[in-house]
Amino acid sequence: METFEALTRRHGVLRYRPDPVEPEKIERVLRAAIAAPSPANTQPWAFVVVTEPELARRVAAELVRMQKEHVFCRLLEVPEPFVDHLMHLYDDFANVPCFIVVCRQRRADWAGEEHAALVRDWELCSLGAAMANLMAAAADLGLGTRWFGNPMADGGVSLKRLLGIPEEVEVVAVTPLGTHDEPPKERPVQSVDVHAGFQRGDKHKLAALLQGKLALEDVVHTNRYG
Ligand SMILES: Cc1cc2nc3c(=O)[nH]c(=O)nc-3n(C[C@H](O)[C@H](O)[C@H](O)COP(=O)(O)O)c2cc1C
Repeated sequence: METFEALTRRHGVLRYRPDPVEPEKIERVLRAAIAAPSPANTQPWAFVVVTEPELARRVAAELVRMQKEHVFCRLLEVPEPFVDHLMHLYDDFANVPCFIVVCRQRRADWAGEEHAALVRDWELCSLGAAMANLMAAAADLGLGTRWFGNPMADGGVSLKRLLGIPEEVEVVAVTPLGTHDEPPKERPVQSVDVHAGFQRGDKHKLAALLQGKLALEDVVHTNRYG
């Protein structure tokens, strides 16, 4: 697949087939991830690859629980009957054959304590780049992914316990990895009004927010902003 196609055809996949992912493909997406840039080349990442079926089911269950409790109920304030409707999107999640847990791990003490906030921001940017590389490489192989940030909502406590991740290592994101039957998602052009008029608790506005991508001309400025 062309690089541009892999980047633009990638979409967040929730329904997977249970077929295991070949180890070579897992290694390939991880190689893409660690090719990402990082501040002072500190490479502040660690990855936990979960392929053991029972463990994968428990990771799936945790992600689904956090999705409901933290994302839909607390963060987005979705009304109760609609939460149940949205949770059906995750009905087949127990099928996911592989998860990659992306962690922030500092190895070099390369900047003083007074720069701690900046360093964390930079490290998270770098992990984002690693995730983007990983997801593009997976799309290139015909595999699905989806960025789950919800473990950050509870400090990743439950996943750390489940996977033996040490206290000082931070869980930043998790993605399922596997084959799927979903066609590339429709990408209608989304109006900026959808964002400006968004109201938490309004299910129609949430549905609109989750659809499409803003037009290039709404997010790109040439030479001067505006
Ligand atoms: C930082 C970040 C956190 C996210 N967290 C979640 C999450 O907790 N649960 C989920 O289902 N999707 C999550 N997503 C996926 C987004 O909802 C998804 O990328 C967005 O709706 C755009 O759809 P697309 O990935 O198909 O382009 C997250 C994405 C990002 C970048």
